[in-house]
Amino acid sequence: MGERWDEAVEELSTVRDLVRWGASRLEEAGVWLGHGTADPVEEALTLVLHALRLRPPLPPELFGARLTRRERCEAVALLRRRVEERLPAPYLVGEAWFAGLPFHVDPRVLVPRSPIAELIEGGFEPWLQAPPRRILDLCTGSGAIAVACALAFPEAEVDAVDVSPEALAVARRNVARHGVEGRVRLLRSDLYSALGGRRYDLIVSNPPYVAEEELARLPPEYRHEPRLALAGGPEGLDVVLALLRQAPAHLEPEGLLVVEVGAAREALERRLPGLPLTWVELERGGEGVFVVTREELEAGREELERAAGGVPAGRLPEPG
Ligand SMILES: C[S@@+](CC[C@H](N)C(=O)[O-])C[C@H]1O[C@@H](n2cnc3c(N)ncnc32)[C@H](O)[C@@H]1O
Repeated sequence: MGERWDEAVEELSTVRDLVRWGASRLEEAGVWLGHGTADPVEEALTLVLHALRLRPPLPPELFGARLTRRERCEAVALLRRRVEERLPAPYLVGEAWFAGLPFHVDPRVLVPRSPIAELIEGGFEPWLQAPPRRILDLCTGSGAIAVACALAFPEAEVDAVDVSPEALAVARRNVARHGVEGRVRLLRSDLYSALGGRRYDLIVSNPPYVAEEELARLPPEYRHEPRLALAGGPEGLDVVLALLRQAPAHLEPEGLLVVEVGAAREALERRLPGLPLTWVELERGGEGVFVVTREELEAGREELERAAGGVPAGRLPEPG
């Protein structure tokens, strides 16, 4: 089985050869492309260029450039791991792009891909009335949302929380990479538990929301992502309902909450039929992102209490 990979190292010579051959292997293996690239050619190009210590876009005249043996070995090894281990490409190259910015990623964090990026890039218009002074990124993972918000709103202070110390280590690296240590505070917290009475103008969250049954059906690539980043309980709503219920206590009077719940939208609407959530239409695609004001949450308090009543507010695992 290893033969065809060895043959490729010997027989292929240019970037074009390797990208074409690699794309054919990715297509044939039916790899899942939900972690950043649009098609097998782009995916193969990302991996081959990583082996060459280059980033896309490659100037067209370099596609005919011949590779050294070492470069061919490295490129083929990456393609092989992508096919055989089903590792998402961003973990193989150690980088993912979010809101036009590069972030370090590894299997301690979800690969950032939230459609909330589009809202950050657009300054959360038309929902924010004024630039936010205090922002909370709840369930920050790699820190991508927190960092992108800090850069989009240069006057804002951002708190970024996650229950996973491993994720926070990755977030710390990304905060330093983008030079926003002075304005982004990282905290280990089970939802709002470590925040005391602090209030925010804007709370943004991409929490875990995959329902149990759906989790079991996800393509193998998702098994490399932390389960804690995906699993949202039987309906996908465990964390979502808890974060909604506690949000009014952490929002300023004019505050706004923005949450991605993806495919859990249907279950959420079933559980909270009266809550006026505004579902955002995104130009670049992506589903299940809503915005809601503190005022609207207050008005729906009773319904929220009823829906979230059975959900434990705290999920922090025992230390060790
Ligand atoms: C879907 S990932 C999102 C990461 C990042 N916001 C992004 O968009 O790429 C969800 C994150 O929530 C964290 N998490 C899960 N339960 C949590 C809780 N109860 N409190 C805080 N963070 C939690 C996970 O560790 C994971 O990093």
